[in-house]
Amino acid sequence: MNFWLDPAKLHVERARLEDADVVAKLHAQGFYRGWPREDFQSYIAAENTPLYVACDAKRKIAGFAMLRLVGDEAELITIAVDRAWRRKGIGLMLMRQLFTELLRSPARKLFLEVAEDNEAALRLYGKLGFSKLSERKGYYPRPDGTPATAIVMARDLE
Ligand SMILES: CC(C)(COP(=O)(O)OP(=O)(O)OC[C@H]1O[C@@H](n2cnc3c(N)ncnc32)[C@H](O)[C@@H]1OP(=O)(O)O)[C@@H](O)C(=O)NCCC(=O)NCCS
Repeated sequence: MNFWLDPAKLHVERARLEDADVVAKLHAQGFYRGWPREDFQSYIAAENTPLYVACDAKRKIAGFAMLRLVGDEAELITIAVDRAWRRKGIGLMLMRQLFTELLRSPARKLFLEVAEDNEAALRLYGKLGFSKLSERKGYYPRPDGTPATAIVMARDLE
């Protein structure tokens, strides 16, 4: 099933194996340390790591988000939007679609980790009703060698 996002004329759908290359590039654009395309191929193929892409009718991908499902819990593993497409509501819409998808799973809570200095993501998650549970110091490696603290957040799924 496709979920159309107006007014950007994008929709959200499950990623296909051939999306792994673009997804890996978007991930590398969004984070200090990228993950190899082969890893994304495995995630896309696996049932417990559903990956969703926001794309247009020609399947040009503007962003993606990936979950891990474990029993009655789910974790947002990663989310990234192409720089050219940021601040247009795509991150918000991807997240809302994940919530809808998760209603069809046994998951009752969605967890995530976010760097304490990632203002864009913190605001996005705040807007979506996530609250802070704890901190993990030294969690994210950084180019200057000073690792950043992760904020652990969660939100009930209902
Ligand atoms: C975080 C990210 C996914 C947001 O995607 P996006 O499509 O630009 O987000 P949206 O346009 O849906 O923004 C929704 C809300 O989040 C907040 N937000 C998003 N980007 C922001 C920014 N740069 N500064 C401040 N607030 C921001 C705002 O509250 C925004 O609502 P508004 O535009 O009405 O003010 C994107 O910035 C990104 O890919 N970053 C790099 C990867 C990353 O950090 N991922 C999160 C890891 S935990």
